[in-house]
Formats: sequence, structure tokens, C-alpha cells
Amino acid sequence: MSPLPAMATGERGFQPMQADDLDRIMEAEARAYSFPWSRGNFLDSLRSGHVSELLATQDKVLLGYYVAMPGVDELHLLNITVVPDFQRCGLGRVLLDRLEWQARQRGLAAIWLEVRASNTRARYLYGARGFVEQGIRRGYYPAAGSRREDAVVMKLGLDQEAAHAAG
Ligand SMILES: CC(C)(COP(=O)(O)OP(=O)(O)OC[C@H]1O[C@@H](n2cnc3c(N)ncnc32)[C@H](O)[C@@H]1OP(=O)(O)O)[C@@H](O)C(=O)NCCC(=O)NCCS
Repeated sequence: MSPLPAMATGERGFQPMQADDLDRIMEAEARAYSFPWSRGNFLDSLRSGHVSELLATQDKVLLGYYVAMPGVDELHLLNITVVPDFQRCGLGRVLLDRLEWQARQRGLAAIWLEVRASNTRARYLYGARGFVEQGIRRGYYPAAGSRREDAVVMKLGLDQEAAHAAG
């Protein structure tokens, strides 16, 4: 059996993202995206106090991470990434569940995100977790050959009252 799924499903935990983590995050970012975030993007998020965590094994192997910006009544997902070696093992779901927990902890009403129209896997995952398409932002992302790609805007409504009523 491949050791990768075992590593991805074994003992692991979330921890706050810190500047010291950025070397390995930048390595993962470069492998995961054609247009990765820069170190400056991550540093800006850390300085701004965005909600940002990484998921790692007990042995400190990086599995994934996310960054989200809290607003008045919502959390806006800016980056969610599973390290390529561990994709398709269910960790995308684990990261999204944690993000939803973070939003509920803050009493926020919704999570918003943008996703590339061509990102079938991510769109499937978001839809399966209850996100609903709200519209399109034309030419939102850079694409190959100086072209632009549309973003699909998605929202997960969090029914806080129902959650409270349920205890
Ligand atoms: C998108 C991403 C976060 C998903 O994480 P993941 O760990 O690979 O996803 P999971 O293993 O949790 O799979 C989620 C679902 O997508 C499905 N899926 C996987 N690959 C798919 C594909 N190519 N097309 C359609 N569905 C796919 C899985 O079957 C699973 O559904 P299921 O549980 O019903 O079987 C991850 O692939 C990633 O980091 N990609 C690169 C960065 C990126 O695109 N981030 C999102 C930017 S908006």
C-alpha cells in the first residue's frame, strides 16, 4: 500500500501559520499552482491577522493550509491548498470543515470564495460541502499567454441560529 494515504489520514493537527513556515509553504505553492501566491502575499495576510492555519503530521510534514479574511459578517477564503503529494486523500474536505468551524466560532453568517472556472476538482469539492454559485467575475485571474480566466463566486451560508438551537 502507498504510504502517502496513511500519512494523510494518520495523526495530524492544525496550527497557526507563521513566517517560519513560509519556506515550505512557498515550495508547496509553486507545485500546486500555475500562478502561485508570492511570499509577500502570505506575509501581508499574516500581518493583517487573517485566519491562516496549516495542517501537518506529528512529524511536521506539511499536508495543506488555508488563509481567510474575516469581514463584518463573513469569512472570505483567499487560499486553500493541499500539498500535491497528498491531494485526493480527503484533505480538501478536512481543510474546508476546519474553515467552517472557524467561521462558526466567530458567529459569522457566511463563507465566500472565488474559484477558477476551469478548476473542476475544487468546484466539485465546494459544491459537495454546500457552497452555492453566486455569479461570475469576468477575467478575474491571470491565465497562460497573458489571457485572463473567469472566477466563479461561491457562498456557504451558515445558519447560526439553527446551529445554536441544536445546541
Ligand atoms: C482543490 C483541493 C484543495 C482539493 O483537495 P483534495 O484533498 O485533493 O480533495 P479531496 O481529496 O478532499 O476530494 C474532494 C472531492 O473532489 C473529488 N475530486 C477529486 N479530483 C477530482 C476531479 N479531477 N474532478 C472532479 N472531482 C474530483 C474527490 O473525489 C472528492 O469527492 P468525493 O469525496 O465525493 O469522492 C486540492 O486539489 C488542491 O490543493 N488543489 C490545488 C490548489 C487549488 O486549486 N486550490 C483551490 C483554489 S480555489
